[in-house]
Amino acid sequence: MASYLEENKDRFLSELLDWLRIPSVSADPKFHGDVLRAADYLKARLEELGVENVELCETAGNPIVYGDKIVDPALPTVLVYGHYDVQPADPYELWTSPPFEPVIKDGNIYARGACDDKGQVYMHVKAFEVMMKEGGVPCNVKFMIEGEEEIGSNNLNVFVRENKEKLKADVILISDTGILANDTPSIEVGLRGLSYHEVEVTGPNRDLHSGLYGGAVANPINILCKMIASLHDENNHITIPGFYDNVQELSAEERAEMAKAPHSDEEFKQSIGLPDVYGEKGYSTIERTSIRPTLDVNGIWGGYTGEGAKTVIASKAYAKISMRLVPNQTSEEITEKFQKHFSSLVPSGATVVVRPHHGGEPVVTPTDSIAYQAASKALETTFGKKPIPTRGGGSIPIVAMFKSELGLDSVLLGFGLDSDAIHSPNEHYGVFNFLKGIETIPHFYRNYAALEASK
Ligand code: BES
Ligand code: MN
Ligand code: MN
Repeated sequence: MASYLEENKDRFLSELLDWLRIPSVSADPKFHGDVLRAADYLKARLEELGVENVELCETAGNPIVYGDKIVDPALPTVLVYGHYDVQPADPYELWTSPPFEPVIKDGNIYARGACDDKGQVYMHVKAFEVMMKEGGVPCNVKFMIEGEEEIGSNNLNVFVRENKEKLKADVILISDTGILANDTPSIEVGLRGLSYHEVEVTGPNRDLHSGLYGGAVANPINILCKMIASLHDENNHITIPGFYDNVQELSAEERAEMAKAPHSDEEFKQSIGLPDVYGEKGYSTIERTSIRPTLDVNGIWGGYTGEGAKTVIASKAYAKISMRLVPNQTSEEITEKFQKHFSSLVPSGATVVVRPHHGGEPVVTPTDSIAYQAASKALETTFGKKPIPTRGGGSIPIVAMFKSELGLDSVLLGFGLDSDAIHSPNEHYGVFNFLKGIETIPHFYRNYAALEASK
């Protein structure tokens, strides 16, 4: 007998494509109506599956889709978190098919949000359906799918603080991360934190003729570049005083363990078209993208960028600068250190303002918990290989908050690949990964319920 998943996979995919067609871009107010439509779509899908108490929880921003299925209050409860908002799709011209007209090509679903995170959220919705059709869910489930992850989850913070009873659970289950490869399952056991700033350097009070004034005034673009360049030394260490003070150094054994994960710098370079790897001296590529903090300029602008040449010294220059944080740095500490240091770098001929954006704390999740074991066993069953614990480089700021406010650990049961191009043009998600997720999640529930019952 073919499984329920096998028999219904085409419908599962077409439902996901319908959801992906709704451009739920949280960063751009122009899409606000679509964000609400995407929330409605999810609410309707949960309702028709027999999820109870489904509602759109209003916040000061986008609604949170909540629903639950309490099969027995004596059983443990899994709180599924994810996000239905997506990153802006710009630049549109670099997409080979339009970002909100999803297509399946060569085994991949191409659309903004296909992997991050609608495709992965939808695995949970369909896994719930599969469980309901195949004997029911073995423990209680709560869904909490937000619409502001990509813009900092500020209102979810408030919601979590104010709804501790409603969100009472034993573990948080999240599919918003990745695996090493389709033949190498892994579970992320760490996420980096974030400290993000916008900086503005001001020189003269108006744009100037670069011939009449050039050489005698501080050019804010030159100054900004110099300031930014000085933030790394010749070994690519970050020069902000005290930046590494609280960084947790891994032991030689831990680093040796990490180095066992399959990785090839050759393939890494090739996959993103780089002539060589680059980064902090003394650390491997995997370490640089997981256990080490970083500082990157995300955008820089000012002056004349139009056609041809305009000889001008701009009055202002701007940049967006982010730092990825690792245990035991805190966003507050690093924000303060960055602000202080960056402000001190400006020469007397110009001024600088540093404006902090949202931040987030790093986390490490346990591998000795029942929930981790349940996830590990589930992946081992469906991939035929025991998953490797890895430390992820991305950030999901709410995860640290789940721990501090709800006292709950998260399991990062993600199925994406680094090559899925999340946040980039041509984001995609493997049909294999989508279906594997739906297949694996019910195993997680069964393992988790069984392990909890026998403890
Ligand atoms: N799902 C990602 C984070 C992620 C991706 C973690 C892959 C690990 C592996 C999430 O949607 C995201 O993009 N987070 C942002 C932070 C947020 C505050 C905008 C990030 O990491 O830049
Ligand atoms: Mn995400
Ligand atoms: Mn994202």
